[in-house]
Amino acid sequence: MAILEANDISKQYRMGEVTVDALVGVDFVVEKGEFVAVMGPSGSGKSTLLHLLGGLDKSTDGEVTLGGRKLSVMSDKEVTLARRRNVGFVFQFYNLLPTLTAEENITLPLLIDGKKIKEYQSKIDELLELVGLTDRRRHKPDQLSGGEQQRVAIARAFVNAPDIVLADEPTGNLDSRAGEEIMKLLRRSCDELGQTIVVVTHDPKAASFADRIVFLKDGQIASEIRLEKGGDTAPILERLGELA
Ligand SMILES: Nc1ncnc2c1ncn2[C@@H]1O[C@H](COP(=O)(O)OP(=O)(O)O)[C@@H](O)[C@H]1O
Ligand SMILES: [Mg+2]
Repeated sequence: MAILEANDISKQYRMGEVTVDALVGVDFVVEKGEFVAVMGPSGSGKSTLLHLLGGLDKSTDGEVTLGGRKLSVMSDKEVTLARRRNVGFVFQFYNLLPTLTAEENITLPLLIDGKKIKEYQSKIDELLELVGLTDRRRHKPDQLSGGEQQRVAIARAFVNAPDIVLADEPTGNLDSRAGEEIMKLLRRSCDELGQTIVVVTHDPKAASFADRIVFLKDGQIASEIRLEKGGDTAPILERLGELA
């Protein structure tokens, strides 16, 4: 079942006289339980694609369907609600609130959605366990390493049990070891929880943990590969070489 679908989407940014074609006629389907990576050079439209898929921005043309519902027919308010309930976001610079503890940061989406935290305590405990931060739950972001902060952000993205988690360069600010831990955590949540995930990355090692990689170039899908074995960068490097 397709959980997320983009049909022939385009995005133009207008900057005064200049128009930038950030995406041009992109078709993109994510099946439930899939782990997809999006790769491509800087400026190829990766972040734009992720923003459109998650309803953070509107396409100029084409249609995004999230959980069977077309975003274009929803009001801004409905899109905001659909995004809050159905999409978890992870960003390169974690975007945690500095004054809140790890645990409080994780509960934030529940609070915003008007949920009673008490009813979710066991879920929060499970998520802290999943990301390996049970003993760091009362730490503030500045008392955590970059990798730990990103794990808080991942638990926060999961807390609403979203249909899909969208991550934009989640390892971009981490050293290779912490980055690999983040990718393994995402891989595990796909395998064990059936979490559907789309990760944007320019790092072949990070992308190697996905089931499938979509390559963008100049705002268009240039190519796609399915990966057989996690952690093997050889087929990715080969494909990147062909595209260069
Ligand atoms: N808000 C914006 N306004 C104008 N141009 C933008 C904006 N966001 C991105 N762009 C342009 O769109 C293109 C794609 O950007 P982006 O999606 O951020 O690429 P990537 O994430 O692959 O580096 C680039 O040429 C970029 O300069
Ligand atoms: Mg980007």
